[in-house]
Amino acid sequence: MKSQHKCVVVFALVCCCAVLIALIFSAVDVWGDEEESFNEGQCGRSCRVLLLENIPEDVSLPYEDSVSLRSALGDLLDQARRSVEIVSPRWTLNSSDQTHLAQARQGQLLLHQLISLRSRSVSVRVVSGLSNSSELNTLARRGADVHYLNMKTLTKGELSSSFWIVDRKHLYMGSAGMDWRSLSTMKEFGLVLLDCSCLVADLHRVFSLYWQLQYKEFVPSLWSKKLSALTSRDQNLRLQLDDTEAQVYISTSPDVFCTRERTKDLEAISRVIQEAQSFIYISIPDYLPLLNRSQLRYWSGIDSMLREALLVKSGISVRVLVSCWTHTHPLTHNTLWSLQNLCFQTLSCSVEARFFSLPQPDTLNRSRFVLTDTSLYIGSQSWMGSEFVSSAGVGLVIRQQQQGNSSSVLQRIRAVFDRDWHSQYSRPLHTTHSPACTAHTHSD
Ligand SMILES: *[C@@H]1O[C@H](CO)[C@@H](O)[C@H](O)[C@H]1NC(C)=O
Ligand SMILES: *[C@@H]1O[C@H](CO)[C@@H](O)[C@H](O)[C@H]1NC(C)=O
Ligand SMILES: *[C@@H]1O[C@H](CO)[C@@H](O)[C@H](O)[C@H]1NC(C)=O
Ligand SMILES: *[C@@H]1O[C@H](CO)[C@@H](O)[C@H](O)[C@H]1NC(C)=O
Ligand SMILES: *[C@@H]1O[C@H](CO)[C@@H](O)[C@H](O)[C@H]1NC(C)=O
Repeated sequence: MKSQHKCVVVFALVCCCAVLIALIFSAVDVWGDEEESFNEGQCGRSCRVLLLENIPEDVSLPYEDSVSLRSALGDLLDQARRSVEIVSPRWTLNSSDQTHLAQARQGQLLLHQLISLRSRSVSVRVVSGLSNSSELNTLARRGADVHYLNMKTLTKGELSSSFWIVDRKHLYMGSAGMDWRSLSTMKEFGLVLLDCSCLVADLHRVFSLYWQLQYKEFVPSLWSKKLSALTSRDQNLRLQLDDTEAQVYISTSPDVFCTRERTKDLEAISRVIQEAQSFIYISIPDYLPLLNRSQLRYWSGIDSMLREALLVKSGISVRVLVSCWTHTHPLTHNTLWSLQNLCFQTLSCSVEARFFSLPQPDTLNRSRFVLTDTSLYIGSQSWMGSEFVSSAGVGLVIRQQQQGNSSSVLQRIRAVFDRDWHSQYSRPLHTTHSPACTAHTHSD
């Protein structure tokens, strides 16, 4: 009787082990040596930073210590010797739009440049959340490796990330996707970090994660160690950015895409806001405390982080620059208005929100960034709850001590923010009515 009992127990244990092993192997990808060996001691830590902007022709704003997006991306491709890896939410470089022939030209030139990389033996790898793009199919026929991600089944979201990795040592991250309008009619902002292989190694892990998910219908619960984060909120990477000391790390979303040690986008934003001492400047397309644009479900997320900062940080100054465009939700005005009133007469804080609108509706796709006196967060997600829950995004945090050096990255980005904030395109909130963003009247 006793031995029979023992048998049952042993059998159950064996079964458990088998199931566990099967689970582990189904969840973890075991790869070949696709990943290059990465030597932390020898990677590049002295990086140069370029601020990239595209300013539409009909917008009279000067480039503020920034370079044109089109020429910087073109230069990156010219420099490429071995590999170009691209994640973009859109692929519409080859426009068939007959009304904007001149503007569309830049997109076609960039596509051409991408296609001709092959003749210089530079490999091109693309990850896309589109299901079947004729442009990517063309690129694939011309020698690029394209992986499609079925985000709808993976997380019920989109692939919002937008970045490039060139030769595993340069990176681009910003609001512009592979869209002809980003190079001509849209206002865009982004960063290029040159000779920065230590940081790129970590961003490349995000790329590899996407790369592995092609054809997958579920997200594995365990990730390979080769995808674990190299940098995080608690483990910053020390770099020289244009000869100024900086600490950086990468964050991602949604949670199920956050591998071991990886900081979540919302945690990164929260930390950046918490560490601010004198100011928090935000540039964002939408500001809504909602889970999702079409469903009235409250999401306190970033709004509550800001309100907390205003309440507990004495002397803090907050500025929020929000796009006024076709899809501006009517609640945006009310939310900003209530935020703005938080400091009214009582608290030792100041907060101001403004709407930014360009002559042409829908030509604004500003990066989502938070800039403070101590750090910058630049990311790809719209600030609504469902984006962080379901869409794949990536963010970069740069922390720098105040050095009074006008050439530090944070100072340079502040100059870009200040230019927009004080420009003719930015308008304070109106007390009684929300702005007619769709009509784009500058009447008040
Ligand atoms: C771009 O589009 C045009 C027509 O719409 C087509 O003839 C051409 O082959 C396309 N070019 C590429 C590189 O896909
Ligand atoms: C992609 O679209 C083309 C036509 O645009 C179609 O012929 C092809 O079957 C589609 N491929 C897939 C995998 O859906
Ligand atoms: C400021 O930064 C520049 C390089 O960006 C450097 O050459 C200069 O020495 C720095 N100045 C100070 C006071 O640190
Ligand atoms: C908002 O949520 C609803 C229901 O969950 C969904 O049907 C809709 O597609 C979502 N809208 C957006 C813009 O994500
Ligand atoms: C702006 O970029 C986001 C993703 O980065 C995209 O979903 C949106 O459609 C873009 N807006 C326009 C007007 O292109």
